[in-house]
Amino acid sequence: MTDSKLRVLLTRRWPQTVEDAMAQVFELRVNPDNKPMTQAELAQGLAWADVLCPTVTDVLSAELLSAPSVRTRLLANFGVGFNHIDMAAAKTAGIAVTNTPGVLTDATAEIAMTLLLNTARRAGEGERLVRAGQWEGWHPIHMLSTQVTGKTLGIVGMGRIGLAFARQAHYGFGMRVLYSARTPRSDETLQGLPARYCSLSELLAASDFVSLHCPASPETHHLINAQSLALMKPTAHLINTARGDVVNEADLADALQHGVIAGAGLDVYEAEPMVTPSLLDLPNVVLLPHMGSGTTQTRVAMGECAMANIRAFSNGQALLNQVV
Ligand code: DGY
Repeated sequence: MTDSKLRVLLTRRWPQTVEDAMAQVFELRVNPDNKPMTQAELAQGLAWADVLCPTVTDVLSAELLSAPSVRTRLLANFGVGFNHIDMAAAKTAGIAVTNTPGVLTDATAEIAMTLLLNTARRAGEGERLVRAGQWEGWHPIHMLSTQVTGKTLGIVGMGRIGLAFARQAHYGFGMRVLYSARTPRSDETLQGLPARYCSLSELLAASDFVSLHCPASPETHHLINAQSLALMKPTAHLINTARGDVVNEADLADALQHGVIAGAGLDVYEAEPMVTPSLLDLPNVVLLPHMGSGTTQTRVAMGECAMANIRAFSNGQALLNQVV
């Protein structure tokens, strides 16, 4: 199979430079209205394309992937998380799946830090106050908040992004780092970062900030719920830049309302773009619209990474970032 014959479908618009590069070497189709494709449109796409490039907003179910009409042999996902794809069904159907790890690590860690600083220092609340014309001027006890420097950060899931964030926090803000993961990381993997491995319950009880970096899976579904929130300090803050369903959003809203924890910063939600309505009324939660990897530089790099995987596929070479 040659590059020029490969049919590639992008389910959403990508940065223009990457679309242009793809159009030069593949028979490229792009979802023109840039809205999530319906299940029927995805089925048509899978029947047309050799390579379909989904994003987090495309649910690729067993039913879709096992249909006899499917022509697609590669799902080149635009993103590192792939919980929207039924991996077992892809494997059974003989469809390879690749993702875009590494290139979005720094941008996502930056958004975790943005959320941590915003929730701790009440930046969103302060900004709303100024914009509403309600600021009455400086005084010694106005909008007191939580200092970050020197506090304890608990990282749940010490992969690339967890580690990058932990390094920013330790070297930038002198934070002590605890982490929980399936297994302890080697000193080499931690790149010399003095981080202590512990159980999730110890981490929740000891941390001033808890930040989630684990993938969505049956094991991590609602890992943070009423019981785990109750283990946290009433002064602690929760940060989620991983996946929405790691947190039971209703339990979190309840905990924030009743002072079980002090605050939260969220970039991801259980049923995006829907946000649990009670969260919208709470002053002590910072809400961002799933923008962790959303810098121009990173989104271009993600597109280039997906394209490199497609080229490898097209040339019959080993895929660079194969997850199935
Ligand atoms: C990722 O790469 O997983 C981002 O969350 C967007 O899908």
